Amino acid sequence: MRLLVTGGAGFIGANFVHQTVTRRPGVQVTVLDKLTYAGNRASLASIADRIEFVHGDIADTALVDRLVGGVDAVVHFAAESHNDNSLADPWPFIQTNIVGTYSLLQAVRRHQVRYHHISTDEVYGDLALDDPTAFSEVTPYNPSSPYSASKASSDMLVRSWVRSFGVRATLSNCSNNYGPFQHVEKFIPRQITNLIDDVRPRLYGAGHQVRDWIHVDDHNSAVWEILDRGRIGQTYLIGADGERDNKSVVQFILEAFGRDRDDFDHVTDRPGHDLRYAIDSTLLRTELGWEPEYRDFRKGLDATIEWYRDNESWWRPQKDATERAYVSAGEKVL
Ligand code: NAD
Ligand code: DAU
Repeated sequence: MRLLVTGGAGFIGANFVHQTVTRRPGVQVTVLDKLTYAGNRASLASIADRIEFVHGDIADTALVDRLVGGVDAVVHFAAESHNDNSLADPWPFIQTNIVGTYSLLQAVRRHQVRYHHISTDEVYGDLALDDPTAFSEVTPYNPSSPYSASKASSDMLVRSWVRSFGVRATLSNCSNNYGPFQHVEKFIPRQITNLIDDVRPRLYGAGHQVRDWIHVDDHNSAVWEILDRGRIGQTYLIGADGERDNKSVVQFILEAFGRDRDDFDHVTDRPGHDLRYAIDSTLLRTELGWEPEYRDFRKGLDATIEWYRDNESWWRPQKDATERAYVSAGEKVL
């Protein structure tokens, strides 16, 4: 099988490529990545001789058409992925997440290539803390931020290309991922690397928001199940029953560093901050038999902390610029 992986130098894409090379050595992987601030070739360095890497933009229709014409399937991870950045400047999110997806869809349509679309639970908006339900495949779309609205738009394009043009696509909407190779702008790596630098973790607002954490390897094993056996046109929600509020996550990390549980700062809250995400992954589990391997969040978090301690040369070049960007965006200790 020849597989094109867009965004393979980013967090989830790079972990997907590592998992594929390890578990499915017969698959020939080509990565297409623009290497934005979030892309890092170092994430693929240890397997560079086992894949093909193409530096380019998913919105470059001629390049995309050529690459898609040479593969059997596409898995589309490439995106602008950070909510805070989408509040500061929405344009790259419209361009990459919507126009870039359009470019891929036209190519898979022309070449009749199987396509899997990676999306997010954020397209469904948020839930009240005491809501007994969770997001499922039939929850209506209700995105809150420019990021989640751009992902919702891309999902809608995929659905319409299936129905109108017979494109052989599946979609997955996953909850918050954690694990190695995640950019230090994101919540968990930001707090881990702050603590390595002896800086207090930073909690937006009161920290009551809930995210449904899943290890990135579990997300990617689910993507492979869907690629192998998913029904064309179907959306699958991916989640591992990992709901935690942000304050508890910061406190787990503080404990792992042997610090006091209250040794963190409250900072300016995110405008429009979604309160809670929760995934019901029954369809994925019953129809495709998928189960997560990482069931103990604290164990997964400890391994992630160890990874950041062992791989400082990977994240250090991004750390100062990332923290400066938060300050220029107006973040203040409350
Ligand atoms: P990331 O920001 O770490 O990586 C994105 C990658 O896409 C980078 O390598 C970047 O260089 C590349 N890229 C950006 N624009 C591009 C373009 N125009 N052309 C080619 N490459 C481009 O993102 P991530 O966290 O790995 O997320 C990957 C996908 O998973 C996204 O579609 C995101 O919406 C989705 N997702 C993420 C999470 C999460 O918790 N991180 C959860 C659910 C879904
Ligand atoms: O739910 C899936 C989504 O998860 C993905 O679609 C996005 O690509 C991914 O970035 C993530 O979005 P979030 O906005 O939930 O993730 P983030 O890591 O930015 O923040 C997680 C929570 O932590 C959120 O409630 C905001 C809060 N936070 C974040 C940062 C960076 C803090 O309290 N302090 C921080 O310093």
